[in-house]
Amino acid sequence: MSGKEIRERFLQFFASKQHEIFPSASLIPVNDPSILWTAAGMVPFKPYFTGAAIPPVRRITTCQKCLRTPDIESVGKTARHHTFFEMLGNFSFGDYFKKEAIGWAWEFVTQHLELPADRLWITIYLDDDEAFDIWHNQVGVPAGRIVRMGKDTNFWEIGVGPCGPCSEIYIDLGEERGCGSPECGVGCDCDRFLEIWNLVFIQFFRDEQGNYTPLENKGIDTGMGLERVASVLQGVVSNFDTDLFREIMDFTAGILGTPYGSSPRGDLALKVIADHCRAVTFAVADGALPSNEGRGYVLRRLLRRAVRFGRLLGYQEPFLYRVSGAIIDQMGDVYPELVANREHVTRVVRTEEERFGETLAQGTEILNKMIAGARAEGRTVLSGQDAFRLYDTYGFPLELTKEMAAEQGLGVDEAGFAAAMEEQRQRARSARQETEYISELDALFKEARDTYGESEFVGYQTLQAEGKVLFLVKEGQRADRAAAGEEVYLVLDKTPCYAESGGQVADHAVITTGDVRVEVTEVTRPVEGLIVHKGKVKSGLLKEGDAVQVTVDAARRAAVARNHSATHLLHRALKEVLGEHVNQAGSLVEPERLRFDFTHYAALTPQEMRRIEELVNRAILADLPVEVLETGLEQAKAMGAVALFGEKYGQTVRVVKMGDYSIELCGGTHLQRTSQAGLFKLLGESSVGAGLRRVEAVTGAGALSYLYEKEAQLESIGRLVKAAAHDVVQRVENLVKAHQELEKEAEALRARLARLEVQELLSQVQEVGGVKLLAARATAADMDSLRAMVDLLRDRLGSAVIVLAAPAGERVNLVAAVTRDLTGRGLHAGKLVKEVAAVLGGGGGGKPEMAQAGGKDLSRINEALDKARRIVGEQLKTA
Ligand code: ALA
Repeated sequence: MSGKEIRERFLQFFASKQHEIFPSASLIPVNDPSILWTAAGMVPFKPYFTGAAIPPVRRITTCQKCLRTPDIESVGKTARHHTFFEMLGNFSFGDYFKKEAIGWAWEFVTQHLELPADRLWITIYLDDDEAFDIWHNQVGVPAGRIVRMGKDTNFWEIGVGPCGPCSEIYIDLGEERGCGSPECGVGCDCDRFLEIWNLVFIQFFRDEQGNYTPLENKGIDTGMGLERVASVLQGVVSNFDTDLFREIMDFTAGILGTPYGSSPRGDLALKVIADHCRAVTFAVADGALPSNEGRGYVLRRLLRRAVRFGRLLGYQEPFLYRVSGAIIDQMGDVYPELVANREHVTRVVRTEEERFGETLAQGTEILNKMIAGARAEGRTVLSGQDAFRLYDTYGFPLELTKEMAAEQGLGVDEAGFAAAMEEQRQRARSARQETEYISELDALFKEARDTYGESEFVGYQTLQAEGKVLFLVKEGQRADRAAAGEEVYLVLDKTPCYAESGGQVADHAVITTGDVRVEVTEVTRPVEGLIVHKGKVKSGLLKEGDAVQVTVDAARRAAVARNHSATHLLHRALKEVLGEHVNQAGSLVEPERLRFDFTHYAALTPQEMRRIEELVNRAILADLPVEVLETGLEQAKAMGAVALFGEKYGQTVRVVKMGDYSIELCGGTHLQRTSQAGLFKLLGESSVGAGLRRVEAVTGAGALSYLYEKEAQLESIGRLVKAAAHDVVQRVENLVKAHQELEKEAEALRARLARLEVQELLSQVQEVGGVKLLAARATAADMDSLRAMVDLLRDRLGSAVIVLAAPAGERVNLVAAVTRDLTGRGLHAGKLVKEVAAVLGGGGGGKPEMAQAGGKDLSRINEALDKARRIVGEQLKTA
């Protein structure tokens, strides 16, 4: 049975049990900043289990794209570790429970997948007698094949949130696959017993302290790994041998010229590339982009790891984007988002591959410097920290660093590398733990929402409103009053305050009643439908139940509106100037400025920037009316509204229209007419990842202060070069020209000095055993100029041994050279310089013909040079 058939059978089976088939949610969790990736089928449904949101239906089945990264290093080395995988699941939100979930799971595996019932084993949570009863008495599994297990394996939870005991189905793959130990059984680390399905009985809510409170509505969450089940049904030893992976691995093998099965090294590479490239392809199609932090960093690591494995097999050209294309061909009919984004995905992957190629070149340079540094300090091993830096920043595998260091006679401190790696793992782990928990505060706010219902937002129509204080939180706890000087969170029944969302920052406001005054500086929506104000009580005593007056800071709101409306005009202008492929990837709208991230592959030219500014300013001068209408999502799309990537819309949407120029779905607050923006000025553009650019801009008063600042800069330049504003350019041009001439002159003088020095040095050449030897002190600012001098001397002397020592600050640079005709006589520049450097308390080395080193003891230069002469003399005597 192919992977595709298994997927289809599963979904159809649960459809026949009245489940609605939902498409997979994005790998990027929507409205859930607590996790980086969708890592299980239940993730998109968390709010349905807890009751934070109402599910559209109570039974759902999905095949969910999942990404997990803790085991990245094990991928390819084991039969079952993956970063990207597909999880088949069925879900009940307050509908059916254990009896149905277990019965259907058994029916599906035994009748539809036709797995032999006598090879199936069951695990249940320690005291879950109810599950035991269902498996044994209802389904008929012999008691001997039902195993009770502890919390570490049979209780499923993901940080704070819905959780519960679980029951798993295992298949016995046969004694020959086992470890042979008499204790071997379900749960053994070996390959004999394989878990194929996890049924979670969601019945608790776990809070931050680790308390479990029973949920009002129990639920079911199950997860069956598609790749594993395919391996069982296809009778192969690892997930990589199923059709799901083989197609991709064979395609890759064709490019790399390494058929699967021809060598362990090649197989490992093919597996890693297939796994990582699936993750990368799906993640980019879902809107993730490589970068240096968070999700983007995970993506970058996966991509580079895959590329490196290609390089280890000797393949230098970009190839991963072609593997991505093959994955899209294979999976595109099940995941249409792949096909829709084909060009984007392959371009992003290719650009990142090329960029990594450059990084590898840079990394090589850094490695060479590290090696020189280690030598100069007389070390024969590269530190673990250095090796780790190369790994972490430049993506150099330890093996590569070892190889390259060895070529230059250095080892690598592998234990130090492992320690640095472990340290980073710990840091990543604690960061993960922090982010997996939703805060205690959010739990309080959920309580507020459940008790008092949703907040009414009246801020589109008015900047002032009367409201009632429903809920107060002080020092992390619910409170009934707050006094002057205290920080509070407060929930009102009604508010004109805009909560931060869609990139637009929150309003500032004051809340007053009697002598009470609260200054609000943060407004958020921590749970669906609830608006929470954070502020400081400036005077009076604020009490729950107070009727209050809320007044939004109007000037700030207006400045934000100018930037927000300008953002829409900018979005349109970008598409017009750069092309329709431009899509918003993120934005920040503040009172002072706006920032806009979008998809595009090249830096913007000054002409393009100018053209964009012109278009936006033209739309401002045209004084277009800004209209807001509420309508259905489909109608809005039919009107040509730009919908944003990954955004989730409800039944009705808000459409913001500016004349016939721009139309977007947007929940933000805007101007009445575009002319109120005043003036639009771009501040600059930059890259924020492969295929992703960022522009920043100002409007209104912000644009004016920008111009004042430029004017002031021009004036100070004028003062510095002593010219009036209209003469500044001419004056600076003259200065630059004069500077260039001086540089040229200085260069010529330096060259002349070097020649003189060489001349002088030539007079110090001695003859030792018929060989010309020059061991002398020289004047050179750095290693490069010292080497240049040695090159010059070597050319002049034709056949010679040269050792130069040049003090540079508190250190001594040493360069030694032996012309090729003399290396045959046992003279070796690397060995020579090493011994000479030892006299100076330093070290170094290199090739037989040319080598360099460093030393510390400036007072012993003469002694060191004498040593050089002695070594050469002795060598020539014995040779
Ligand atoms: N959520 C459960 C899991 O991921 C089914 O194993």
